[in-house]
Amino acid sequence: MRSFRALLALLLLWPALPAFAQPADVNYDEAKVPKYVLPDPLRFSDGRPVKTAQQWRQRRLEILRLFETWMHGRCPAPKVRLRAQPPEVERNALGGQAVRKQVVIPFSNDPAGPRMHLLIYLPAKASRPVPMFLGLNFRGNHAVHADPGIWLGEIWVQDQKTKTWKKQKADHTTRGAAASRWPVEKILARGYGLATAYYGDIEPDFDGGMRYGVRPLFFRPGQREPAPDEWGAIGAWAWGLSRALDYLETDREIDARRVAVIGHSRLGKTALWAAAQDTRFAMAISNDSGEGGAAITRRRFGEQIHHINARFPHWFCLNYRKFDHREDDLPVDAHMLIALIAPRPVYVASAEEDRWADPRGEFLALVHAAPVYRLLGRPVPDLREMPPANKPVMDTLGYHIRTGKHDITAWDWEQYLAFADRHFKRAGR
Ligand code: GCU
Repeated sequence: MRSFRALLALLLLWPALPAFAQPADVNYDEAKVPKYVLPDPLRFSDGRPVKTAQQWRQRRLEILRLFETWMHGRCPAPKVRLRAQPPEVERNALGGQAVRKQVVIPFSNDPAGPRMHLLIYLPAKASRPVPMFLGLNFRGNHAVHADPGIWLGEIWVQDQKTKTWKKQKADHTTRGAAASRWPVEKILARGYGLATAYYGDIEPDFDGGMRYGVRPLFFRPGQREPAPDEWGAIGAWAWGLSRALDYLETDREIDARRVAVIGHSRLGKTALWAAAQDTRFAMAISNDSGEGGAAITRRRFGEQIHHINARFPHWFCLNYRKFDHREDDLPVDAHMLIALIAPRPVYVASAEEDRWADPRGEFLALVHAAPVYRLLGRPVPDLREMPPANKPVMDTLGYHIRTGKHDITAWDWEQYLAFADRHFKRAGR
């Protein structure tokens, strides 16, 4: 009985509780953000200026190497195309509004090895290949929509008592549990398809989860952990997104040249890194990605490098730990991550109450990436001032800060759909 009361109290209190205990040394005072100098994306490491698009292409490779070496680690180039199993197709899904496809993409020949389950919805009435949103999900494909046809897959869960993780069949009561984050019908009605996969299929998200994911498949004989400049979990998830795109390229009902990669929070960090490396992604959308995503690291506001490395030591490469408390020494910063995606469109979104992710820092990354877009002849919106809440600005770069909490909402999606319309539905396409 007592434990029942405690549970009830916890449930009532739940919305008021912070997502986790905030570290004591976190700064939320704008006046205490120290001065910093950002590395110039338009200057080579040896100091030469970058003045032409041709020079930018070389500088881009230099910046990409820096991110690989110090932050995300190198991902292996896919040596072989993975062989997906034939998809299961339902042409009359969601009451006739959608074509639903589900496909298993094994990452190795080992039947017990990791494999990705890709869920695809396409508008049923499309007369030509459709543009897509592609993003990983946190809780399993079955949580994205209540559609009973979605396979009930296996997900990773932590035992609250022992703190150990195990993989188990998802509970059917969690069907549609994350549906507020995936407005499937609206996406379809606007003429887009949606593809998503559970991120734990690629690598489960906990320290030590690496051995159940794809990274060991690429170890050299005898290797037990990644070298200091080899990929972390975010690198693995980003690699998984590229493998999903490989699959989308094989589907004639999909226009793989118009795929927007999207992600929320840690998966927003992942979406940016995926688009930075893989130029086949036509657009990137980062929702509340924060530290290690769109937020300028040198601004000491909200989460910092040492916080993230302490709580999520598996996300970045081992070299990244050298920059705990030393953000000024990092050879890159978030504006360069966005610049790597240029000239392709990038949308960054923040939420007012999500101070941990540093909304201003997320905005400033766009401001400081803009010179690269201008050099490449792409129009950028007026970024002199941070726009007021709920007033998006968009051109080749897009930004909004929404009222409310750390989340991805239907309103956020409205803006992403408008942004995609702007770039994917121009005359002649
Ligand atoms: C934590 C982490 C953030 C991350 C977020 C999320 O808050 O510190 O860096 O973005 O989790 O993925 O939800």
